[in-house]
Formats: sequence, structure tokens, C-alpha cells
Amino acid sequence: MDSITLGIKKFFSSIFGAPKSNIAVGIDIGTSSIKVVQIKKEGGRAVLDTYGALALGQYSESGMVGQVTNLDPETLAKALSDVLAETHITSKNVVLGLPSVSCIIFILQLPAEIEERDLATVIPNEAKKFIPVPITDVSLDWYIIPRREDSGTEGRVLAESGGEARMSVLVVATLNETLIKYTTLMQKADLPTNALEIEVFSHIRSVLTRELFPVMIVDIGASKTKLSIVEHGVVETFRLANKGSQDMTLAIAHSLELPFDKAENIKKENGLVPTPEHPQVPDLIKVHLADIFQETNATILAYEKRYNKNVGKIIFTGGGAMTKGLLEYAKQSFGADLVIADPFAKVDSPVFLQAVLKTTGPEFSVALGLALKQIQ
Ligand SMILES: Nc1ncnc2c1ncn2[C@@H]1O[C@H](COP(=O)(O)OP(=O)(O)OP(=O)(O)O)[C@@H](O)[C@H]1O
Ligand SMILES: [Mg+2]
Repeated sequence: MDSITLGIKKFFSSIFGAPKSNIAVGIDIGTSSIKVVQIKKEGGRAVLDTYGALALGQYSESGMVGQVTNLDPETLAKALSDVLAETHITSKNVVLGLPSVSCIIFILQLPAEIEERDLATVIPNEAKKFIPVPITDVSLDWYIIPRREDSGTEGRVLAESGGEARMSVLVVATLNETLIKYTTLMQKADLPTNALEIEVFSHIRSVLTRELFPVMIVDIGASKTKLSIVEHGVVETFRLANKGSQDMTLAIAHSLELPFDKAENIKKENGLVPTPEHPQVPDLIKVHLADIFQETNATILAYEKRYNKNVGKIIFTGGGAMTKGLLEYAKQSFGADLVIADPFAKVDSPVFLQAVLKTTGPEFSVALGLALKQIQ
């Protein structure tokens, strides 16, 4: 699993350097809220130190908690400093998550005889076909996917294709604009930009449990849903569904003629469980969940057809995965095993907190995965 992040780290640590330490902080800046988690290493185990989330809506003009925002780095830096102060996080060994939407992840099949030193010329040329913006607008990183049978040291996948040995190279293209935005924000928050990671890779660390088959991770955020299929720690498919949990709040607000914040509370309290007061709410949520599930199924089917492999498990994560009754409803749409992410199960925590951590876990899976990166 870690092998994949090594590739990504190569890209970012070459710019920033990423020292390992006994205490680490993961920072996930979502469109609706910032999530932070601090963990420490004790006796070889990762232990939860502190964590917290801060709604960004209150820093925007609307002031609505739960609302999707698009704040400038200055305001984001202020919000970040506030949440770090509130959670008493003092360690500067921070890792910042980058939204998967600002990156394009794809796999190139290249002739195996290409020398590693030539990849810097070959890959940008090949990558152009996959990137809808000028190649000069992105930073590229790549990672040669190791052969399964070996420990990753050889670092080449050899597949017979028309008699020619090929290697698979995972390529990540990140918009330079995004890198600049996030490094500026960290500087303004007086934090060292010592490590960055794309959120999909943090998920791999925090929600997978060494499954030996392909797994679909469905991250239902406020603005969008991120769909990734991962096998042996390698992201084989990544798709974006243009629908998130805020769409459900907006549907409730519109249909019941309620202000956004009231609708947001009703969504969180009721979820898919009907109440005498608001019997229509489950159906309003289901319309949007059904769209997300349809897109998830289409992604799974396309993957299974292309790779001739079955997706054995679907893990729901992101704040939207906390919707009450989600698993029961999802069972009607999927044949695979279904689970809600439980990232805090990866770290030790006080017994009295464990029930809360299990419930709130999906919201923190990126932040926890980021922190784990720094101490593993
Ligand atoms: N108990 C709950 N039931 C239903 N929805 C919930 C619950 N708790 C949080 N949410 C929703 O989850 C969303 C926030 O999730 P998350 O923190 O993963 O989003 P984000 O990271 O800010 O967004 P994105 O990843 O799209 O940028 C909000 O729309 C919020 O209403
Ligand atoms: Mg998110």
C-alpha cells in the first residue's frame, strides 16, 4: 500500500521534503469544512491525540454551516489557524490533502525497455493525450507499478501485448494553480509546506484493510462524490460524480421551503428514516443518492469489463456516508459487500470515545490517512 504513496511523495517531497516524526497532523480542506487530526506514535502504535472539524460556511458571505464554499487562501488560512487552535494542535509536522478533483490520475502502458532516465521525456509526451489543459499548466509525477509477484524492488509490470513487454506507469498530473493556492495558504497559516498528498491516496491508507481484491471507495463530500477503484494499493480507476451531500440539503430546503441551515439539520438528523414531521425527507435524499449509486455502478461495470475482475467491496466515506439508513438503502443497488469507512479503527483511542469515532469516522478518513502517512 505504501508503495503507491512513495511515488507521490517523490513528487512532492522533492519540492518540500517530508521528515518522519513521532507526531503528525493531517489537514483535509474540503469545500464545506476543514478536518484536522493529530496522531502520535507510542510503542510502535499510532495513537489518536486530537481531532476536529470546522465548517467553512461561517467564513463566507452566506455564513451557512454545511454550505459549499470557494474561499481565497487568506480566509482559508485564517480558518485553518482557528481550527488548529481550537483542537490544540501544535505540531508543525503537517500533511495537507489536495483535492482529487484538481488532479488527473491515469495509467500509461509503455514499452518495458524504456530506461528510467528517459521517462522524464517520454511521459510528458504520452500524458498530453490524457490531459485537457496545456502540459505546462500541470506538474507531473509518476510511479512504475511493481509486478505483483515481487516485493516492488524490480518495479516493472511486464505484460505481453503483441509480443512486446510493457510496463504500467501510474501518472498524476496536478494543476500548478492548485499547488500554488495550497502552498500560499500554508505559508499564510505559518505552517511548513513539508508534505502534500492527493486525497485518494490518503483514503487508501485509512479505509482499506489489506483486501486482496478490487475495492470501490465512494467519497460522498459536500460538493462532489469521488469514486475510486483500488487494487493492491493502486488506483486503477478514478471518476468524479457531480453530486454531493449539499444537493440533498438544497432539495430539502427547496421542497419544504426552509432556510439552508434548517434543511441541513433535518438531513443530518433524519437521513433516510421517515418521521411524522417530515415524511418526504427520505425520498428527497434518495433521488440524489440514486444518482450517485447509478454512477458508482456504471464505474464498477466499466472497470469489471475492462479488467475482467470483480469489485468485491464498496466502502462509503466522506460526510455523506453518515446519512442515516444509507447502507440499507444501498443494498438495493449493489451486489458487493458494503461498509461504512471506520478510519479511526486504524489508531488507538480512549474506549469512551470509540462509539463517537466510529460514527464520525467517514468525515475524517482523508485527514487521518494524511497523518498516518507521516508516521508510518
Ligand atoms: N449525519 C449526516 N447525515 C447526512 N449528511 C451528513 C451528515 N454529516 C455530515 N453530512 C454531510 O456531509 C457533507 C460534508 O462532508 P465532507 O466533510 O466529507 O465534505 P467536504 O470534504 O467538505 O466536501 P468535498 O469533499 O466535496 O470538497 C455535508 O454536505 C454534510 O451535510
Ligand atoms: Mg472531502
